[in-house]
Amino acid sequence: MTTEGRGTWGSRLGFVLAAAGSAVGLGHIWRFPYITGENGGAAFVLLYILCVALIGVPILFVELALGRHAQLNPVGAIRKITGNSAWKYVGYLGVAAGVCILSYYTVVAGWTFGYIFKTAFGWGGPHGQLTGNVLLNALLFLAFMLLTVGVVYGGVQGGIEKWSKILMPILPLILVAIILYSLTLPGAMEGVRFYLRPDFSAITGQTVLMALGQAFFANSLGMGAMVTYGSYLSKNENIVTSGLSVVGFGILISFLAGFAIFPAVFAMGQDPAAGPQLVFVILPEIFAAMPGGLVVGTAFFVLLAIAALTSTISLLEVPVAFLIDEKGMRRKVATWLVAGVTVLFGIPSVLSFGGSAFFTSLPFLGGMSFFDLMDFIFGAVALPLGGMLFAILVGWRWGMARAVAEMAQGNPAFMGLPGAVWGFLVRYVCPAVIFVVMLHQTGILRKLME
Ligand code: PFF
Repeated sequence: MTTEGRGTWGSRLGFVLAAAGSAVGLGHIWRFPYITGENGGAAFVLLYILCVALIGVPILFVELALGRHAQLNPVGAIRKITGNSAWKYVGYLGVAAGVCILSYYTVVAGWTFGYIFKTAFGWGGPHGQLTGNVLLNALLFLAFMLLTVGVVYGGVQGGIEKWSKILMPILPLILVAIILYSLTLPGAMEGVRFYLRPDFSAITGQTVLMALGQAFFANSLGMGAMVTYGSYLSKNENIVTSGLSVVGFGILISFLAGFAIFPAVFAMGQDPAAGPQLVFVILPEIFAAMPGGLVVGTAFFVLLAIAALTSTISLLEVPVAFLIDEKGMRRKVATWLVAGVTVLFGIPSVLSFGGSAFFTSLPFLGGMSFFDLMDFIFGAVALPLGGMLFAILVGWRWGMARAVAEMAQGNPAFMGLPGAVWGFLVRYVCPAVIFVVMLHQTGILRKLME
């Protein structure tokens, strides 16, 4: 199969910003602060960094090495190293996860659009008023989908790289502006203390699992997004330093997001453990109450929309690259096709917030909404499962010798001790830790321990 015409990154910085764009998204600015708030603050932050270093970084290297070696989408890449074996279904799992995650993630991404206008024009009303309005919800979802299509349509350099280079540097700037404002609020230091002083008694088994799950979701791991982005890398690229820059940027943004949010939450006497609604319910209340909140609030939701966009792009790119490589489809046709299927898949998620009684509260799942079900299957189970399979595939089937040789192209120093440590983590630590997490997340471990 020819790889001509599939595209490559134009520069090292372009790749780093695009991959960091995929990683940094709602997972960092919406999910990370509320999980941190629910799990005791600073101690959770330390645990998260540990999970990223021990599991996230090795799996990121696995995906990038595989993608760069094969110069193909996840299905093609796996076929290239294992022949036509059952391993290729790991690639299919990734392609399916791309469509499925995109279908519900874009619903939340659409809200960020809604909140830009809601905040800027002071349109009141509770969160439910926006999410429960099916037509509005559907329009916001479609608008965000179209924006994503518009970028992916442009291809690797002209679309993804170009827009990531424009959008990503804006992100820390807006965040820092919000932090500076947040820190000047009376009572803000209470929030800083909560965020920086670890209380290790808050760490439980559940906390560890949340930290690990977040390490996957937040770094776009386990579904081949990084295989796909790695496939556009040239052979002389230094995957090690590029990969570490991506992870470092992600940790920085997560860390800053907490700094933007917790001082404001404490200054306004709100509960840091308010859960998923922290960003969409508590923050707008804070913005409404504080002087200058209109500008800061609008900037915040613009920031969230930008971060979400560079992530939805990568979710769409995985199935699109699959269709281009494996089915010989033209990029534009593939983009529209995947977007169309994703919109159909997204309908139940759009209806999950009051629009349809059935999808809002699935009768056979004890009242869980369709949206929550999707997030559980793909956010919590499929990504760690995919990550574990990628680790086993590369560690045991492709072999660490070949993988290390791939990593060493562009970074010869990786051949020695770093490669050996990586091999140990990939072959033993990652599969074992993820396996235990999987058992726990699917409730099997809890049953066994009863
Ligand atoms: N990493 C993204 C976030 O933190 O919002 C979500 C994501 C994007 C997950 C791409 C998986 C993926 F392949």
